[in-house]
Amino acid sequence: PLAALLEIGGVKIAKDDVVREGDPTNNVPDTIFSKIGLQLHRRDRHPIGILKNAIYEYFDERHEGKFVKFDDLCPIVSVKQNFDDVLVPADHVSRSYNDTYYVDAQTVLRCHTSAHQAEILRKGHTHFLVTGDVYRRDSIDSTHYPVFHQMEGFRVFSKDECRDSDMDATSHAAADLKKSLEGLAQHLFGAVEMRWVDTYFPFTNPSFELEIFFQENWMEVLGCGVTEQEILKRNGRTDCVAWAFGLGLERLAMVLFDIPDIRLFWSTDERFTSQFSKGQLGAKFKPFSKFPPCYKDMSFWINESFTENNLCEVVRGIAGDLVEEVKLIDNFTNKKGMTSHCYRIAYRSMERSLTDDEINQLQWRVRETVENKLNVTLR
Ligand code: PHE
Repeated sequence: PLAALLEIGGVKIAKDDVVREGDPTNNVPDTIFSKIGLQLHRRDRHPIGILKNAIYEYFDERHEGKFVKFDDLCPIVSVKQNFDDVLVPADHVSRSYNDTYYVDAQTVLRCHTSAHQAEILRKGHTHFLVTGDVYRRDSIDSTHYPVFHQMEGFRVFSKDECRDSDMDATSHAAADLKKSLEGLAQHLFGAVEMRWVDTYFPFTNPSFELEIFFQENWMEVLGCGVTEQEILKRNGRTDCVAWAFGLGLERLAMVLFDIPDIRLFWSTDERFTSQFSKGQLGAKFKPFSKFPPCYKDMSFWINESFTENNLCEVVRGIAGDLVEEVKLIDNFTNKKGMTSHCYRIAYRSMERSLTDDEINQLQWRVRETVENKLNVTLR
């Protein structure tokens, strides 16, 4: 039989290999499979592609085109690539079926572009940028979507480059990293207020986050740091130092283009797509509709296996991009030790007004499926 076949970077993917309902080692739903291969970051007139090109331009200018670019690597990777190769501990939450999409016990949809660091290093590259779609199970609101895009940057310093500096190699790399990324923020935003925050990643030390002050809030736009020696050592770079960063393209694009909701990046409505053109960074998006949201509450007694990510996946599976937010609004435990949650679901289309009838039907299907699939008791 003819299976649905996708091809990404020379890898052929059959739907049956990625979505297998009932297989306990697999948790990829249809809605996620349908995003694989769309590659928004490779469209020159899409905000994500326009932003990718602007970042390329910055690094090309700064490093005379030395950075090698990868943007067609297959998002289906091994557990080893996604976690082990970047030193993610065996018990780290990000490895759980609640956080990551597993194709089978050894294979995942990459949850970050860091999954490709090791293989590219092993090929001998010292300066590279990796852009791709990444996948994470998560809750639902205007800045979270289970598929988004990241760009990874990686730079290995030669021994000479470190020797010429009056700092130790790690400080030299950290200083260069911060300077490069401050320059990038400047290139993209012009003058902006930004700050560095110390953080932790298994693959870098020291590790930092860059935050940008935007619309009255500090917003995290990227994670970065000096690469753990162990990663360099394992991949043929014994006496070097390196930095790496991973930035979220949607986050930056929402700020640069004034895009209010992350679902819009997936819109095929011409009123959205026609507003962007190749090479035009920061053309402000003009909303073409403002339909009121419709709220529906549902309460249920949870069981031990209940998670918000599972609930969100059920809702997204039924309502697709018509769901704007799923929010816990009440939570209590009774004398018998039973815990009740009340969730408020906001339905809103970015493109048209929804009828009461349509929303009621969605909500009924959500209630039915939540009860059957999540084994909770509706109240
Ligand atoms: N992979 C990290 C994330 O997805 C970002 C990161 C990349 C941090 C490289 C440090 C170095 O959150």
